[in-house]
Amino acid sequence: AKKRLQERAQGYRIRNAEEKDLEDVRQINMITLPENYPSYFFRELWIKYGKSFYVAEAPGGKIVGYIMCRVETKPGYFKHFLVRSGHIVSIAVLEKHRRKGLGYALMAYALKSLYEEYNCSESYLEVRVTNKPAISLYEKLGYKTIKILHHYYLDGEDAFLMARPL
Ligand code: ACO
Ligand code: ZN
Repeated sequence: AKKRLQERAQGYRIRNAEEKDLEDVRQINMITLPENYPSYFFRELWIKYGKSFYVAEAPGGKIVGYIMCRVETKPGYFKHFLVRSGHIVSIAVLEKHRRKGLGYALMAYALKSLYEEYNCSESYLEVRVTNKPAISLYEKLGYKTIKILHHYYLDGEDAFLMARPL
């Protein structure tokens, strides 16, 4: 599976985010998603959960994608007790660089760190019910839709809450 990831994402590199990448990450988030955050939000996730904060670097060094997570203790969706759950807070890849396996690779790296470094036994996320590409990606990774969060987004759109065991 790892070999296939490398073959598809030709010349790209997935690596942990460094402090100097955070403004690029914020820019990509601004361009690609309606859910945007102040610089300190990115910085806080990087400080607290940096081992599950990754960027995708194109040949030449330009940052073209990111994933950032938060570790939370909450009732499990797959166990009837409190679990450590890796919340996928945000993932995005610049449009020109999509469909090359980067989204999948970013998720795979983050999930591995959430499990191995942060001892999470589950992962969850929210996604717009109309966001076909992202929902397909998460289903491919084994996420199941747990429930609909009505009027979750500021513009009134619903979210699917999706989760999977790690
Ligand atoms: N249509 C259908 N399925 C898709 C699509 C699409 N447009 N894009 C990806 N997928 C699915 C496919 O199953 C694909 O596998 P395949 O290419 O072998 O068919 C699989 O996802 C993996 O695709 P990748 O190439 O790894 O994904 P990509 O690098 O294009 O990134 C992403 C996917 C991150 C969702 C990208 O489309 C994006 O940045 N979108 C805008 C930002 C966004 O919506 N982020 C998610 C918000 S929710 C959250 O952050 C928790
Ligand atoms: Zn969320």
